[in-house]
Parts: sequence; structure tokens; C-alpha cells
Amino acid sequence: MTQQGTFSTTDDFVLDVTRIREQVRQKMDDGPVTGTYGRESDRVIGVLNDVVATEVVCWLRYTRHAISASGIDRAQVSAEFTEHAREEMDHALRAAERIGQLGGDPDFDPARLAERSHTDYTTPPANDLDAMLRDNLEAERIVISTYQEIIRWLGDGDPTTRRLMESILEEEEEHADDLVDLLGL
Ligand SMILES: [Fe+2]
Ligand SMILES: [Fe+2]
Repeated sequence: MTQQGTFSTTDDFVLDVTRIREQVRQKMDDGPVTGTYGRESDRVIGVLNDVVATEVVCWLRYTRHAISASGIDRAQVSAEFTEHAREEMDHALRAAERIGQLGGDPDFDPARLAERSHTDYTTPPANDLDAMLRDNLEAERIVISTYQEIIRWLGDGDPTTRRLMESILEEEEEHADDLVDLLGL
């Protein structure tokens, strides 16, 4: 008994399992990257390496600010910076892990981190908590924009990398919100 002919002409989805089984056997050493992967994996690896650099620079900036912060509100601000720093490092590691899955090598070379990062490393005076909070808010707003662009570019071509970037983006938006609260904006 066949259901053919009962679907509308726009719903012509046919899963060609035979062809897919043939294709995946050709390049077994590509691991999870198969013929149905919808982006150039080298481009995605390059974009993810810039994300790694960005996250490491964000970790460095938050860590520096957390340690050097001084003044009456030091404890609260420093605790927030420390928590954000830990999450930025986690983002770097998750992006690096995905680069490995795509057959690339994560680039942690300190000589190139600053030039590849979307955000800047800054060192406001230790007693200027307001400048620290504003620098970090600016950085968070930059990555919110650049990660949104990356997510739109990935589209349906690489759903796993897109979900990773969406999950990181969600935390960057929480970071920006935390900083706005501390700034009293
Ligand atoms: Fe991050
Ligand atoms: Fe962040």
C-alpha cells in the first residue's frame, strides 16, 4: 500500500538513504563532517577561531578587572567580573572543542589573540569601577552583535555550531544585563 500521490507537490521530501550510505563511506576520516554539511568547514573553523580569541581576551579583561578593582563597591563588582570571566573561558573551550570536531586546530597563539578578537583588552584605573563596567558592557554588546551575525550566516548549514553560538549568545546577553544592573542604567 503506497501513500504516494496523497502529498501536495510542494512536499517532495525523499530521504535517499542509499546515496547517503555511499557518500559517508568515501571520507570516513572527516568524522562528523559529511557530504550534507552545508558550509565550508574551513570558513567555520576560521570564524570559530576568532570566537576563541574573543573569549580568551574577554576572560583576560574580566580577570584583570576583578583582581584590580578597588573602592567601596569592590566586592560586588569583583564577584560579578569573576563569574563572567569563568563563563568566557567556558565559551572559549566550547568553541575550541567544536573546531576539533570539524577537523581543525584551535588557535590559542597569544601573539595573534588581540588582533583576532572582536573586543579589546582594557585597563582602566583600579578605582574607576564605572569605567570597568562600561568597558565590559561595550565588549558584551559587541559580541552580542557579532555572534548574532555569525548565527545568521550559519543558518541551516551547520545546526550544531549554530546552537553552540546561540547558547553562548544567551549568556552574553545575561552578562550585558548584569552590567546594566550594576551601572544602574
Ligand atoms: Fe563569552
Ligand atoms: Fe560575556
